[in-house]
Amino acid sequence: MKNGAVIDVHNVHKSFGENHVLRDFSMTLAPVENLAILGKSGSGKSVLIKCIIRLIPFDHGTIEVLGEDVNVLDLDALDVLRARVGFLFQSNALYDSMTVRENLEFSLRRHWNADQRKKGADAVVLEALTDVGLPHTVNMMPAELSGGMRKRIALARTLILHPSIILYDEPTTGLDPITSQEISHLIISVQQKYNTASVIISHDINCINITSNRVVMLIDGTCYANDTYANLRNSNDPRIKDFFD
Ligand SMILES: Nc1ncnc2c1ncn2[C@@H]1O[C@H](COP(=O)(O)OP(=O)(O)OP(=O)(O)O)[C@@H](O)[C@H]1O
Ligand SMILES: [Mg+2]
Repeated sequence: MKNGAVIDVHNVHKSFGENHVLRDFSMTLAPVENLAILGKSGSGKSVLIKCIIRLIPFDHGTIEVLGEDVNVLDLDALDVLRARVGFLFQSNALYDSMTVRENLEFSLRRHWNADQRKKGADAVVLEALTDVGLPHTVNMMPAELSGGMRKRIALARTLILHPSIILYDEPTTGLDPITSQEISHLIISVQQKYNTASVIISHDINCINITSNRVVMLIDGTCYANDTYANLRNSNDPRIKDFFD
């Protein structure tokens, strides 16, 4: 791993037939860092984070997560690694037929540790819901929740396992500006409370401004720029300026 990075993506190539989505893409994520990945719709952002936890295979290159080469892990080892890497799907992926409590317990029971067993599921579920400001929703069904609340519940379901890394896929898409801002601040409080490192995929410039310590721009399948939000904001490069206009 480069300089203690928690994720090291090196020269990764991923194509679907003739569609070359990632072209020797490289990036690293440092401990307790919030790294934003900015790219146009269809540029390969979701594909990239799915490759990181090997939800989809890639053609060549290497990806190391928490010191493990994801390509050589067997399914059991991959399962253990995935419990340490929370994934917030673009679609939230809550189970619609389960209550909020059941959604959270479902993720907990597969991976809970001794400490959590001692505390008991009720207390652990309540703590995660309190972290996202929604303890009162414990018995509600996903259909009864607003878009912003669903995002928070999906985050609580990820947080319940105290992951070392969280991958956020478009955490604010489809939300109004005030709710988006609340979610962005929630991402910061999670980073501070649990010392998590995060990859935040977004085209919401405000979310990236609030949450990111560093930004990678994914253009034409490569890492086109890698800098702070402030420096990119002031760039004269037309391809970078495009994102801020
Ligand atoms: N399973 C798949 N099979 C074939 N092509 C795919 C598959 N998944 C993604 N793609 C293609 O890969 C490219 C990148 O898709 P991806 O979902 O990563 O975009 P994105 O940057 O996340 O876009 P958005 O901002 O709209 O979510 C697109 O051209 C898409 O059609
Ligand atoms: Mg996407």
